[in-house]
Amino acid sequence: MMPLRMTFSFPTTTLFGAGTLVELPKRLQSLGVSRPLVVTDPGLLPTTAFQKLKMVLDTMPGGWALFAGVHPNPGEMDVIEGAAKYRIENCDGVVAFGGGSALDVGKAVRLLVNRPGLILSEFDWRETWTGLAPCVCIPTTAGTGSEVGRSSVIIIEKSRRKAVLFNPALMASLVVLDPELTVDLPPKLTAATGADALTHCIESFTSPSFHPLCDGIALEGIHLGVRALPLAVSNGQDLEARGHMLVVAAMGAVAFQKDLGATHSLAHPLSTVCGMHHGLANALCLPVVMRFNASRKPGLYRRVGLACGLDIVTVSETQADNATIEFIAELFRKIGIVPGLRPHGVSEAHVTEMTPQAFADGCHATNPVPVTEEDLRALYLQAL
Ligand SMILES: NC(=O)c1ccc[n+]([C@@H]2O[C@H](COP(=O)([O-])OP(=O)(O)OC[C@H]3O[C@@H](n4cnc5c(N)ncnc54)[C@H](O)[C@@H]3O)[C@@H](O)[C@H]2O)c1
Ligand SMILES: [Zn+2]
Repeated sequence: MMPLRMTFSFPTTTLFGAGTLVELPKRLQSLGVSRPLVVTDPGLLPTTAFQKLKMVLDTMPGGWALFAGVHPNPGEMDVIEGAAKYRIENCDGVVAFGGGSALDVGKAVRLLVNRPGLILSEFDWRETWTGLAPCVCIPTTAGTGSEVGRSSVIIIEKSRRKAVLFNPALMASLVVLDPELTVDLPPKLTAATGADALTHCIESFTSPSFHPLCDGIALEGIHLGVRALPLAVSNGQDLEARGHMLVVAAMGAVAFQKDLGATHSLAHPLSTVCGMHHGLANALCLPVVMRFNASRKPGLYRRVGLACGLDIVTVSETQADNATIEFIAELFRKIGIVPGLRPHGVSEAHVTEMTPQAFADGCHATNPVPVTEEDLRALYLQAL
């Protein structure tokens, strides 16, 4: 039955196109930012993307400051140290520059600037936040879509779990999607981050709540992504494919304001327990979860397959699901992702440690079919 009330919200202003980075100083000025703190990770510093950012920001009369201490799968300390740098350097806004890790920290730094001493593990998503500093998000990977999201994924030190800090106030003031900034991203990371974006589109489209706006965006994201991702992996300089993947990533994150599913619940402990890249973790689990879901909800993936361009209108529900799942699994193989958790260092002992964490993760609550803790364990074992 259709719910009576829903909130549909797609508000982030987004500049798209090769070379749009040059607009940054002017845009910062109009946001009232004269001295931004750039939040990034050390891996970005030697890239041409960072050189381009530096050249553009060096024109700012008030200067700029740098916090390059973000870790992959960032934790509370990254946010605390970023906020300390912001205060010491007398900044008045944030430029979050990098992959999801840097964007998540950049967005969250403003919470601690606004309220020093805030314990992130006690963050309350219902609270109303006002007066957060402006933040421009500039992704250099095309995966998480954190730039258009309302959350930051941060590991809480005490529990060693990934917490999704959600609050509309965390949204960026402006997003710059410039494909020239992603051309240096190596094929492996292009593949893994792109798999994350596709997983967002597929999980959100098939999650059961009523959100036709997100559903439409997710399907178009799948349509663009399955074509652009292999091109971006095989030729990193392909600006059109890179641009499409940036848009797919943003579309995936807009779509998953609807919901995610069990793949993300399995993926989060793979990062916290095994240190695996988030996108790779999703890629290794998605086909297994799709098979599980399709076995309980036949026909679930037909429209996903149609968006992939498969000729499956007239085949049976089971055939449509199988063709779609095989297409996605083959796509991941084609972009160089070696299937199976074991080749990536995961063992049965890890599965035992990860299973309760995956069950405690909220994403599977909106999986197309319910999952038990035992199901999640079985899915990990199948994915091994
Ligand atoms: N907030 C959200 O909505 C959301 C959604 C999904 C995932 N996440 C989180 O995002 C994080 C993953 O982000 P990610 O997949 O973008 O990876 P990442 O940010 O951890 O970056 C991975 C690596 O890529 C390098 N890199 C980034 N851009 C580069 C470039 N242009 N050239 C060369 N190297 C480059 C970085 O230095 C880093 O070493 C995880 O912590 C995950 O939980 C957040
Ligand atoms: Zn994800």
